[in-house]
Amino acid sequence: MRRFIGKSTKFLGGNGRCFSQLAAHAQQHQNDLSIPRMPAFDYSPPPYTGPSAAEILQKRKEFLSPAMFYFYNDPIHVVDGKMQYLFDENGRRYLDGFGGIATVNCGHCHPDVVQAITNQIQKIQHSTILYLNHAITDFAEALASKFPGDLKVLFFTNSGTEANELAMMLARLYTGCHDIISLRNGYHGNAASTMGVTGQSCWKFNVVQTGVHHALNPDPYRGPFGSDGEKYAKDVQDLIDFGTTGHVAGFISEAIQGVGGIVELATGYLPAVYRIIRNAGGVCIADEVQAGFARTGSHFWSFEGQGVVPDIVTMAKGIGNGIPLGAVVTTPEIAKVLTRRNYYNTYGGNPVCTAAGLAVLKVLEKEKLQQNAHVVGSYLKDRLLALKDKHELIGDVRGKGFLLGVELVTDRKEKTPAKAETLHVMNQMKEMGVLVGKGGYHGNVFRITPPLCFTKDDADFLADVMDYTMSKM
Ligand SMILES: Cc1ncc(COP(=O)(O)O)c(C=O)c1O
Repeated sequence: MRRFIGKSTKFLGGNGRCFSQLAAHAQQHQNDLSIPRMPAFDYSPPPYTGPSAAEILQKRKEFLSPAMFYFYNDPIHVVDGKMQYLFDENGRRYLDGFGGIATVNCGHCHPDVVQAITNQIQKIQHSTILYLNHAITDFAEALASKFPGDLKVLFFTNSGTEANELAMMLARLYTGCHDIISLRNGYHGNAASTMGVTGQSCWKFNVVQTGVHHALNPDPYRGPFGSDGEKYAKDVQDLIDFGTTGHVAGFISEAIQGVGGIVELATGYLPAVYRIIRNAGGVCIADEVQAGFARTGSHFWSFEGQGVVPDIVTMAKGIGNGIPLGAVVTTPEIAKVLTRRNYYNTYGGNPVCTAAGLAVLKVLEKEKLQQNAHVVGSYLKDRLLALKDKHELIGDVRGKGFLLGVELVTDRKEKTPAKAETLHVMNQMKEMGVLVGKGGYHGNVFRITPPLCFTKDDADFLADVMDYTMSKM
């Protein structure tokens, strides 16, 4: 591989759009069989007549937060979506390997989900949970059936942040303690408590964040103890012994870190930590916002992969296929603490959102999407592992189902993050019609989290495009 030192040169293609040299090369060699071809798809969006990408960008700069950022040198302007594909303003089709950040589980604009939303919105869009409506109870009953043990009382929220804030408040009220232990490199949201437990400086502002202890991350690739989960768990006991009163409110973590760069917690970590936390009087919170809802394929919830049963589980993203919806599930005993005061959320459990949530559960089952995530996700992971054998740039391939990570390094021994190369490959893949996400503390991990309807042909196309792009570096 040639050492990559800068951005790709660009030129204007025939239709006025910007293409990279790589895409242009691919266009000029239409008959070259080595150039990956996108699988056929039977849908063309209607012509787009709205404002241009340039106009939107200009208005974004003028009217929206200056903190908003975007992917790609030329940000993609998405105007239409169907299942695992997105379309830009020129009708160009992209394979969506990111799924709106692991959110669009059933596929973009899945007809059953759209129909459920439409039916509900035509009846009653919103009243208040102070009145009765069956949409919320239908969904709560169906969702509760997906959990093990005594996890059967649901609270609905509008986002993952809200769900985690509520979960931590429940833990604090139930135990009478304040201290919460979370993991370095984890992400849990952007409000007061959730920013506190988040373990990456780039997502933390300089505001008061109390009662949080960040434990050593059980990261099999970069951590000091490799894949030995029990060794990392000892750090949690140390934090309790040396940093708290000896009692804690709880522990919160993902089982596979999403924003952190698809880091699968070392085997045996969660069972050991859950034991330690419960001995210190705390409760265990599983953040399933990104990894839940069948995405990992082998299980419906990612914590099941570690063989534990949490006391509280939080979810969002995939729960509504893109509708703003989050939830917390817990036991009747823990749930009771909220009866001490009034607790209320205007939109939480809104009929339109919960009707969508129920439709999502039905689609996951009807279309066997968990099984698809397992079978096609494993196939895609094997393809990516084969790319690791071929390209020195790939330091690690990890994850499960459709929650996969590809970490790029410039030096395999030193594990030096290949930040510029990651951006370059990501831009080039987009030019060739494939969208993937990116994460990890250094921004050098591809996050591959497509809609769960992704096919084997899609997996081949994604891997072929990554291979082609890296081969041209
Ligand atoms: C694991 C995890 N928890 C919580 C959140 C916060 O969710 P939201 O952005 O819906 O507030 C995210 C968002 O990316 C997440 O990945």
